Amino acid sequence: MRIIVYCFSGTGNTRWVCERLSAELRSIGHTVDLFPIKAEFAPPPANGYDGMLLGYPVHAFNAPVPVLKFLKKLPAAHKYLPVWLVRTSGEPLKLNEAAGITPKRLLKARGYTVKGELHYVMPYNIIFRHPDGMAVRMREDAERAIPRDAALISAGKGELCKNGAFRRMVSFTLRVEHPAMPLIGRRFKATEKCVGCGKCASLCPQGNIKMVNGKPQFGKSCAACMGCAFLCPQDAVKISLLNGWRVNGAYTFEGAPAADGEVIRYCRKSYLRYFHKMEE
Ligand SMILES: Cc1cc2nc3c(=O)[nH]c(=O)nc-3n(C[C@H](O)[C@H](O)[C@H](O)COP(=O)(O)O)c2cc1C
Ligand code: SF4
Ligand code: SF4
Repeated sequence: MRIIVYCFSGTGNTRWVCERLSAELRSIGHTVDLFPIKAEFAPPPANGYDGMLLGYPVHAFNAPVPVLKFLKKLPAAHKYLPVWLVRTSGEPLKLNEAAGITPKRLLKARGYTVKGELHYVMPYNIIFRHPDGMAVRMREDAERAIPRDAALISAGKGELCKNGAFRRMVSFTLRVEHPAMPLIGRRFKATEKCVGCGKCASLCPQGNIKMVNGKPQFGKSCAACMGCAFLCPQDAVKISLLNGWRVNGAYTFEGAPAADGEVIRYCRKSYLRYFHKMEE
């Protein structure tokens, strides 16, 4: 199979999962091309491929705006083309499955057939920082699941999530994030700790940051990916109203995985259920 992977990732979690899945698919004989979803870059259409993966993080129980914009512009499939959604989220709540509702609808309208939804819990890039052991366990469990998931894709199989009225309502309500984020993002600021390295500007997938006189200036198209604040080497980016939820510094994924007794209290049962399922 020739497989095309489109991936939106603010802070690297989804990118890592998509790269690992791609490597696994290549190791079992498929040709895989991976393209980032970025505002200033138009990836090639999926025609000519036999399968497609769409990777994205869950943002407020929805797909991020750049992913929805990308799907709206995606040319119609010229033949039966199977698609697998590849999601990451910071918590294991089933409600996160609602983030597949709109992408599935948009893909179907363009003639694509969504065959499966893959979901990996990865460390938070906003709200709070997961303890290192939790991050290691998440990544180890994803490593464990990826060969199984690649085999499913290879066999053309997968499962779809069912989303009832409650999930639809929550996800629809929280879509308020979409118009709100450009307004909040305009008020992001670099503090005096900024050394003008330009990293935030070069990694912003929206091309929303310009360096002016050695300091970043934030424009009107922030998609709340958190790349700038999370990856700033000086922890210099203040994210306006969301600053209390800022998480800075990439996870090292080093050390021992959290044992069951060390799993955090927030959503504890859900994390344990998720970990045990991945470790079956
Ligand atoms: C604006 C925003 C909203 C988020 N909303 C959710 C959410 O609703 N549920 C969840 O479990 N995680 C949520 N997260 C956490 C991310 O989905 C998670 O950390 C993801 O793995 C980040 O992927 P990335 O590194 O590819 O950007 C949110 C993150 C951001 C930045
Ligand atoms: S990444 Fe941080 S230190 Fe570098 S320019 Fe941006 S705000 Fe300044
Ligand atoms: S300004 Fe920051 S949070 Fe907004 S899209 Fe760019 S990198 Fe992401």
